[in-house]
Amino acid sequence: MRIAVCPGSFDPITYGHLDIIRRASAIFDKVIVLISVNTSKKPSFTDTERRMMIEENTKQFPNVEIDILDGLLADYVERVGAIAIVKGLRAVSDFEYEFQMALANKQLYNGAETVFLTASAENMYLSSSVVKQIAYFDGDISKFVPENVLEFIRKRLIKE
Ligand code: PNS
Repeated sequence: MRIAVCPGSFDPITYGHLDIIRRASAIFDKVIVLISVNTSKKPSFTDTERRMMIEENTKQFPNVEIDILDGLLADYVERVGAIAIVKGLRAVSDFEYEFQMALANKQLYNGAETVFLTASAENMYLSSSVVKQIAYFDGDISKFVPENVLEFIRKRLIKE
């Protein structure tokens, strides 16, 4: 079975992430969406909240699973026997960071390839932090995140 891991902070998941997950699920037999720790970010939502937000929006894909990791991605990938790490690439600005992570992961575990899917044109500018900033000032984010995520954001982030 060809397993891919799709790691990220998903804080929260956006239509950009969902587009990459959907396309990965058409390529691989199984895709594990892995909520992971990015040590440079302080999350706005708990692991469980992030999992709930993802679950609701990926249940239509039978070969997509969700897991949570507090550890090294490379170790997880080896443990589950994945052959690929799938990441979305938006712009040149993403490239250096993603390239560095791909090389580091390859050094840590040589048995999987990092595969980049180019973001769809409409999602080129989209990121969780942009969405949170717009939401904080009560801007309209309904084009960027699904309905259940909108609810989580409304409760947590919008400036009183
Ligand atoms: O959505 P993000 O924040 O860009 O995702 C980055 C993430 C979480 C995939 C990355 O920080 C990661 O892989 N974290 C797990 C810990 C790890 O293995 N770090 C070394 C990566 S080179």
